[in-house]
Amino acid sequence: MTQIEPALRAAPLPVLPPLPHAREWPVEPLPTTALLSIEDMDTHYGTQSVLQEVCCRFLEKQVTAIVGPSGCGKSTLIKALNRTLELTPGGRVTRGRALFRGHDLYAADADPAAIRKQIGIIHQRPIVFPMSVQDNVLFGVRFHRRLTAFAQRELARELLERVGLWKEVNTRLDAPAAALSGGQQQRLCLARTLANAPEVILMDEPCSALDPTATRHIEALIAELKRDYTIIIVTHNMSQARRVSEQALFFYQGRLIEAGSTGQLFEDPHEPMTREFVTGQIG
Ligand SMILES: Nc1ncnc2c1ncn2[C@@H]1O[C@H](COP(=O)(O)OP(=O)(O)OP(=O)(O)O)[C@@H](O)[C@H]1O
Ligand SMILES: [Mg+2]
Repeated sequence: MTQIEPALRAAPLPVLPPLPHAREWPVEPLPTTALLSIEDMDTHYGTQSVLQEVCCRFLEKQVTAIVGPSGCGKSTLIKALNRTLELTPGGRVTRGRALFRGHDLYAADADPAAIRKQIGIIHQRPIVFPMSVQDNVLFGVRFHRRLTAFAQRELARELLERVGLWKEVNTRLDAPAAALSGGQQQRLCLARTLANAPEVILMDEPCSALDPTATRHIEALIAELKRDYTIIIVTHNMSQARRVSEQALFFYQGRLIEAGSTGQLFEDPHEPMTREFVTGQIG
């Protein structure tokens, strides 16, 4: 394993001072103990500014929903949280920092590969590799652990059971993963992410291409996974955000407009712009 990982796991959770705009959430301020936080962050693609002065916190073993109109920077934000933004041509963090258990994820000695394992990301369109179902699940693990064929089968079974896919694919473990349905591929990608034993799971619109049944599957899975993981989900579906999350963040044109508990943000937003968005007047 990499150097940064034990240090990150061992560190106690930091108690952070109030955010600069905590005064905007007078009714229900967010608790100050955060697993992951962003402080005063700007991002760019080339010379184009995308996120400006973003400060936000993500609480351990809770689900945070990120909502906002198309193009407001939701995907950019979650990519900045696990250092995948820099893999996009021109994408970079130009100011501020991201802290995970008090460690600056952008420090010179931070290891991006280790960070991407601990803060896993599931993209909107599942990216299955051109290989079998089992090889997809074990893709990351096999580089780090030598496993017998039996142990590989067992680990694949465990992970596929965890994402509710085992019954559907147990006779097709050696078949190409590309032959699975979209919802199955989405869960397969989740199993592959879980194989890296992350602490945080970032999900970028995981249900946008799924039918209602597959969507229910993913939502049930989120409800179960939050016992063990911290989950951050980008969604365009307001009902879904209400169903699955405890905290919610509303972004507009690259800025965080409001953050709060999901109930407060959707039912009694403080900012007029949030109200317009959640009532469908902008978006
Ligand atoms: N690779 C890129 N190169 C240049 N600009 C980009 C790139 N990706 C995104 N952008 C721009 O950055 C801004 C934020 O994009 P982002 O994908 O983060 O928005 P989003 O809120 O996730 O939108 P959506 O809801 O449509 O997925 C947009 O103006 C977008 O055009
Ligand atoms: Mg997006």
